[in-house]
Amino acid sequence: MGLKSQDYLRDASGVRRKNVLMTIRVGLIGAGNIGTSHARDLSTRVAGSTVSVIYDFDEARARELAAELDARAVSSYQDVIAAADVDAVLIASPDQFHAEQALACLAAGKPTLCEKPLSPSEAGARSVLDAEVALGRQLIMMGFMRRFDPGYVELKGGFGPAGIGEPLVIRNSHRNEIAPYGLDSAMSITNAAIHEIDINRWLTDDEYAWVEVLTGRNGPLTPEGQHDPLFLLLKTTQGTIIDIEMFVQSQLGYEVTCAVTGGLGAAEMADGSYVTTSRTLHRGHDLPKQWLGRFQEAYRLQLQAWITHLTDGGPLPGASTWDGYVGAVVANRAIESLRSGQRVAVTLPPRPALYA
Ligand SMILES: NC(=O)c1ccc[n+]([C@@H]2O[C@H](COP(=O)([O-])OP(=O)(O)OC[C@H]3O[C@@H](n4cnc5c(N)ncnc54)[C@H](O)[C@@H]3O)[C@@H](O)[C@H]2O)c1
Repeated sequence: MGLKSQDYLRDASGVRRKNVLMTIRVGLIGAGNIGTSHARDLSTRVAGSTVSVIYDFDEARARELAAELDARAVSSYQDVIAAADVDAVLIASPDQFHAEQALACLAAGKPTLCEKPLSPSEAGARSVLDAEVALGRQLIMMGFMRRFDPGYVELKGGFGPAGIGEPLVIRNSHRNEIAPYGLDSAMSITNAAIHEIDINRWLTDDEYAWVEVLTGRNGPLTPEGQHDPLFLLLKTTQGTIIDIEMFVQSQLGYEVTCAVTGGLGAAEMADGSYVTTSRTLHRGHDLPKQWLGRFQEAYRLQLQAWITHLTDGGPLPGASTWDGYVGAVVANRAIESLRSGQRVAVTLPPRPALYA
């Protein structure tokens, strides 16, 4: 159980900080798998936050979680955003609603943590980017939580002259046991591989020059007309070569790996934070069924960074709307490649000064 904000602020600094909101009251939109996990984290494991208002399309689900967390359920997402006792909003609804709900948060001037992706469509992502740029303030943080994962942080920290040098080749795999929202190859890119699209930009501090998607022999559970696994090949503007094996119906469990070859050495995040055990004629570790089993600490660290940013100020600690927009652009070029079989160039508009 985490400390609540009042205790945390006194314990950490010994003095009351000036101009801080002692507790950020978060309104939740979407109380499914990840929304419930985030809300429980915010209520119990993150210092400085409570969950005050909850909306879910499934009203019974919202009421149930609200009862558990001492919050109240409302009957529209607009009611969450407008509520006087909501200081910040967490969007955890299905992908296709994120842009519309993020736009409403911007219009209300409420800080928002928006689950990935910003939008499955480039136009949807662009509309949010344009609205935030017009507002002139960064209110949205994207839920690309891998940027907070101790494994990825350690990998990136090992780059440079004192470590493995600059990344030359990065090889990623992302496997789910089963497609969590049904198998659709375009969604495998916009919903799942979007994590790798983002984290490899973050690892390399670079943008992509092109993307190519290869399809091949399908896994046994792949429905007619779909492709699984997908193999994405990307090159950054500085020349780092990146590949992603995206296998949504792998049946083996949830597994994410990332191996980097640098100019001076190599590093691999193969087993994440798992303990590898040996027993008679076996060496290995259990795989979780889902992301919550692998990235729980990254989710918590991300929420804590967001809440601390809201109470203490300072630059946005995680991925921005610009990052969400770039993810949508790259994902949509990848879908073009999936459909055409051709390599597709990635071109981006100039980065707005707001995200310098
Ligand atoms: N960062 C991550 O690693 C991560 C992990 C899982 C999910 N996600 C993202 O979080 C979002 C939710 O995923 P999930 O796995 O929790 O899905 P889910 O299906 O378990 O939950 C979605 C919830 O949203 C509700 N809902 C449907 N339409 C809605 C609407 N218009 N407004 C509000 N709520 C609505 C549903 O009733 C359901 O309870 C997705 O966008 C997904 O991409 C991110």
